[in-house]
Amino acid sequence: MEIIIQSDSQQASLIAASIVARTVREKPHAVLGLATGNTPLQLYRNLVRMHRDEGLDFAGVTSFNLDEYVGIPPAHPSSYHSYMWAHLFSHINMPKERINIPDGLTTDVPAACRKYEQAIRSAGGIDVQVLGIGSNGHIGFNEPSSSLSSRTRIKTLTEESRLDVAAAFGGEEGVPTHVLTMGLGTIMDARKCLLLAFGKKKARAVARTVEGPVTAMVPGSVLQLHPRTILVLDKDAASELEMADYYAWVHEHKPDWQKY
Ligand code: PGA
Repeated sequence: MEIIIQSDSQQASLIAASIVARTVREKPHAVLGLATGNTPLQLYRNLVRMHRDEGLDFAGVTSFNLDEYVGIPPAHPSSYHSYMWAHLFSHINMPKERINIPDGLTTDVPAACRKYEQAIRSAGGIDVQVLGIGSNGHIGFNEPSSSLSSRTRIKTLTEESRLDVAAAFGGEEGVPTHVLTMGLGTIMDARKCLLLAFGKKKARAVARTVEGPVTAMVPGSVLQLHPRTILVLDKDAASELEMADYYAWVHEHKPDWQKY
């Protein structure tokens, strides 16, 4: 795992954006795996700015989002469809037909999940998968105890995860109980994983992900088995890492050819 620790989320998000942008520049038909939540907001703002000011071209890019709430229409203000259009898709030139988000209103969940997996394969697989991490260690909505080889499927949210998003649904009672999410096996198939984490609230999950045992109880820890995972952290999210000084030293002394 490559651990990049920055002074704040702004600096960290600039690095994350440069990693995504580089992929898009080198491979105009890149396939991006995208995440929602508070964490990637600044990354998306940077990508929008790079599209506007530097001509970063998304015309050939395909995207797959990690997850969506079950039973929430795409137009619902707290759906992940709405989030993605508000923060990214409305501001860049990715064609609508190349944008993929799980269908939370499907009447045939297993078929929709199989179709999603098939669509990822048909697109050639994900080049860079953007990830946040839950305070309980989830990536996507793979809650603790998720199979490390799981594929896209329906999951039941933990109370902790429902509380984390309660404000967006006017209180915990309004939060959907189920989601469709890419599995840990789906995420592990990406050629590169880019996990962002900011703030003290994520410090324990980050430490367990990087330095703890690989365990279904900390779904992010499966990334230890991924050959190309980059974590971009702010100081607070890195604050419980035992080897933080070592990671910082490695990053500072990386030869240019080895960067990202
Ligand atoms: P957050 O969520 O970015 O809103 O903190 C991350 C997650 O739960 O995966």
